[in-house]
Amino acid sequence: MNGVNNWAMATSRPSYIGPLDTDAVSPYYRQIYDRFCDAIVGGVLKPGDRVPSARALADELGLARGTIDAAYSLLVAEGYIQARGQAGSIVTPDLKPRPSVEAADKAPPPIRVVANTFRPDSIRPFQMGLPALDAFPRKVWARLGARCAREMQPSDMVHPAVHGLPELRSQIAAYLQVSRGIACTPSQVFVTSGYRHTLSLIAQALLKAGDKVWTEDPGYPPSRELLGHMRIASVPVPVDRDGMVVSEGLREAPRARAAIVTPAHQSPLCVSLSLARRWALLDWATRNQAWIIEDDYDGEYRYVSRPLPALKSLDREGRVLYAGTFSKVLFPSIRLAYLVVPEAQVERFEEVSQVFAGGSPSLTQAIVSAFIKEGHFARHIQRTRKLYGERRDATAAGLEGVLGKYVSVDSQPGGMHLILRLSARRSDRRLVARMLEAGLYAEALSDWTVRREGASALLLNFTNVDSQARAESLGKRILNIMA
Ligand SMILES: Cc1ncc(COP(=O)(O)O)c(C=O)c1O
Repeated sequence: MNGVNNWAMATSRPSYIGPLDTDAVSPYYRQIYDRFCDAIVGGVLKPGDRVPSARALADELGLARGTIDAAYSLLVAEGYIQARGQAGSIVTPDLKPRPSVEAADKAPPPIRVVANTFRPDSIRPFQMGLPALDAFPRKVWARLGARCAREMQPSDMVHPAVHGLPELRSQIAAYLQVSRGIACTPSQVFVTSGYRHTLSLIAQALLKAGDKVWTEDPGYPPSRELLGHMRIASVPVPVDRDGMVVSEGLREAPRARAAIVTPAHQSPLCVSLSLARRWALLDWATRNQAWIIEDDYDGEYRYVSRPLPALKSLDREGRVLYAGTFSKVLFPSIRLAYLVVPEAQVERFEEVSQVFAGGSPSLTQAIVSAFIKEGHFARHIQRTRKLYGERRDATAAGLEGVLGKYVSVDSQPGGMHLILRLSARRSDRRLVARMLEAGLYAEALSDWTVRREGASALLLNFTNVDSQARAESLGKRILNIMA
């Protein structure tokens, strides 16, 4: 038997595993979570120590496996432990010891820096999250920027409206109607400074500490990290070729308060949420008065057919909160994103924005409004959609030509990155570390995965790889690293 489960056989149980308090207000998963936090913070469990498997602990305590999983998910999201699939979970190796349990109780949870939050100070080949920087219409942007700056009135120099410039909210509402099939009024649109800001507004408005939220597994790590810091438990729900497996979410946590999904191109696997799953998700949310947070970060970039309408376009009961961003279509440093809330929630979000939102720069919002209004936005999307289709094919062909013996490239309907599956049980994390050292960029699928083991793959953005020859030369650099 491996060491992970040996503790359960021991005659004396570790002090952090005792009978749970059946009279406590705090639910079981929270009590388990608190005990592990205390054991880790107090030094009883040390960095690198193994923690019991969820199954063994469930048996030992006579609880459902899902209860232990909920506690472990929270510990993973907050960086206390690391899940390593079949190799078991361990206390995060580089976790800094905290002085005392009392102090730690008051301190925010430790920040876990995973590879995917690494932001190089220069642009690297395959860098995730970037659109094609060479394709951005800088001249048009400069002209509009100069005009907006010239036309600025003293009234444009006061604090901006926290919900966003009225003109931009109108332009976004009109754009969403035409391109994503979403019928909304400008008052339902809230301009934010990025996806994290959007998600924290939603959490402040509609969720509370201790709530459970379904998240995709694998899925975008910042969502889990942000929830963890708000003491909201993310429940990892597996993803297959039809997107989030809704039936698994129903089995694991039927009473979760919300689900975060990326229906257009699942992040990071790029599959689309099937229509049957879309209806199942909406049905669950309606019956449970739960929320669906639709993260439509790159819905415009689909190459096999026209972009699919957003999940929000099917929302008859007002359960979907739609999160869009200008990071992918324009550029990430613009720091502008938007949230569409159901009509009945507008007032609540107005109140919460007054407290938590500082407003976004008026000048930037004015330039984006003009960019959309004058048709540059739609033209830029059309042009980049075509360009990305070509760059994706060229990058896949170039990399497969050089690395074909070691990798296979997933075929995906859309998105802005490729998934290179690694063969022969090669560690994606190790390869990513070496690529970063060599001045390249990649992210490891394992770093996006909470529960499931076995998927070792590189995530590589292709939007800035401008030819097959360039992809081949980058492929050779990866090959040298792999050798
Ligand atoms: C899955 C996902 N959601 C949302 C975003 C948008 O984030 P932001 O608006 O903060 O740039 C990204 C950007 O990379 C993303 O990959």
